[in-house]
Amino acid sequence: QSTTTPVRADGFQVVGTVADLDKNGQLLNDNTAGKVLAIKDPSNNTKVIAVNPTCTHKGCVVEWKQDQNAFVCPCHGSKFASDGKVTNGPADQPLATYITKVEGNEVLVKG
Ligand code: FES
Repeated sequence: QSTTTPVRADGFQVVGTVADLDKNGQLLNDNTAGKVLAIKDPSNNTKVIAVNPTCTHKGCVVEWKQDQNAFVCPCHGSKFASDGKVTNGPADQPLATYITKVEGNEVLVKG
């Protein structure tokens, strides 16, 4: 369980460490204004992608499936590309995304 970190003056909030992202392949953080799921950009290993993993269909929490290169919803099978776009219904709206940056060993997002 990670602790809540404050939103900084520049609007960014720490959601975890690069070390944990490297180790687990993802970071899931509930202690922010919105839920955040951060992954390494599959097309650029040095970048981080972050979405709100709340499925736009009925609100289940999607999971990143590296083998499918997609966020997959366990409830009714919706799939979303790494940029949040729907690739498989029943969801018809994209996942919300965050601006991300890495500073030292910290991963930050801005809503
Ligand atoms: Fe995600 Fe229905 S809640 S597909």
